[in-house]
Amino acid sequence: MQFKITSGHLKNARTKAVISFVFKEQKKLPEEIAQLDEILEGAISALKREIKFNGDFGKVLTVPSLGKGKADFVILIGAGSKRDFDLDKARRLGAAAVRKMRNMKVDKAMIDAEALSIKDEDPDIAQAITEGVILGNYRFDKYMSKKDEFEPKEVQIRVKRKYKNAAEEKVKIGKILAEAQNFTRDLVNEPGNVINPQKLAEIAEELAKEYGFEVKIYDEDEIEKMGMNAYLAVARGSANPPRFIHLTYKPKKAKKEIALVGKGLTFDSGGLNIKPGDYMRWMKSDKAGACAVLGIFKAIGELKPDVAVHGVIAAAENMPDGKSYRPDDIIVAKNGVSIEIGNTDAEGRLTLADALCYVSELKPDAIIDMATLTGACIVALGEYTAGVMGNNQRLINQVLETSEKTGEWMWQLPFNDMLREHIKAPNADVYNIGTTRYGGAITAGLFLEKFVDKNIPWVHIDIAGPAHNTKGWYYHPKGATGFPVRTITTFLMENSK
Ligand code: BES
Ligand code: ZN
Ligand code: ZN
Repeated sequence: MQFKITSGHLKNARTKAVISFVFKEQKKLPEEIAQLDEILEGAISALKREIKFNGDFGKVLTVPSLGKGKADFVILIGAGSKRDFDLDKARRLGAAAVRKMRNMKVDKAMIDAEALSIKDEDPDIAQAITEGVILGNYRFDKYMSKKDEFEPKEVQIRVKRKYKNAAEEKVKIGKILAEAQNFTRDLVNEPGNVINPQKLAEIAEELAKEYGFEVKIYDEDEIEKMGMNAYLAVARGSANPPRFIHLTYKPKKAKKEIALVGKGLTFDSGGLNIKPGDYMRWMKSDKAGACAVLGIFKAIGELKPDVAVHGVIAAAENMPDGKSYRPDDIIVAKNGVSIEIGNTDAEGRLTLADALCYVSELKPDAIIDMATLTGACIVALGEYTAGVMGNNQRLINQVLETSEKTGEWMWQLPFNDMLREHIKAPNADVYNIGTTRYGGAITAGLFLEKFVDKNIPWVHIDIAGPAHNTKGWYYHPKGATGFPVRTITTFLMENSK
């Protein structure tokens, strides 16, 4: 889909449909819509009365121009109350606009960002609408023999003339962010029989080739030589061998060096502590953290920020087998910490343990891991919000503040010394489960803490809830969401200044 910036009058729009927005507070039609209404001989105001269109959020009014106007349709979408408006609402409205384009088979439209600009923030709104359009237009239908072949081709985004250049820049960034997020969604949506650890490594290699990243893939023998026994224990039960992936983006004038780690379980059956059927569904999404790291690399390949970035994934599949690791096993991780296994379904933290030791040795300025780590995090915060933990409040705040701009909801969960007691093991340094199920997201975070160099600021993002959804919400169709690609990429951009 092509994006263009324009600042012409709505009535002169050369496109199939003009899409604008009306706030609840706007009792009369906005000036330019009123002029269109005149050209259409009052059709807009008549239909507005007829369907009692009052600017309620997401409500749509479609008016055909029947040869009277330049565009074939004028579409008004309710923007809700001005008081409640924010950038994420603009994303949702972008998604509503593209959905309307799809179901009316309108391939070209002008979307009026200026109509949503309350405080002259046209460029940011243009970016948010662009993100919403691209994210809302996403579908995963490659395996369907019958699919909707229609694709919208062109969106013109209308802003005030003085903001044309600034909007152009922001729309370019929005397009890169949303396309990278869709790339992540595509990977997460692929099932375990298509993406296994080897395949994930190949995808990382392709990315490296496309954007000129360094890439190193370690096989099972090399993983063993590096002493990553916790990770290997998880991988042992699968016929698909593990692959440890290390991508590096190294620009000439890097302001900082940041390591990203993604949980990459291409499938999580639970292992010997096998999951009951209903809980095993969607466990192809247990690689969502890894796929987010790959999506973030795609975005930085395009945006080229002045910050060095490592992307590390300990890819594995958790399966029950004669070779599987067992409850009660004691394993020594890369940093010498011994782990007693309480449950083989708490496997993500074991793969992350060795990956966190590995990135700690790189001595980056910060470490951020993202992982579909615990069902407990979904119980604590609901399906739409990620849990954020870590060892450095400044870094946590920075991630939380960024997430407020991107609309990817995140909330901090508190570490404390009492819960630290809960991961003490009977026969080893640390247990891979808590002694009670209370605070399960936090005890998982506290487990990870044991494998991070204390001197390096570290943030853990538990995305078990928002990485995937079964119904679709806002600009997310059902399935993978691509969470938190936009937040972390934006964070990296902010650290390149
Ligand atoms: N991959 C799961 C966590 C998960 C659950 C992600 C639901 C998305 C949706 C993880 O490996 C797991 O199974 N965790 C266990 C840990 C428990 C055994 C301590 C859990 O959360 O039940
Ligand atoms: Zn598990
Ligand atoms: Zn898992």
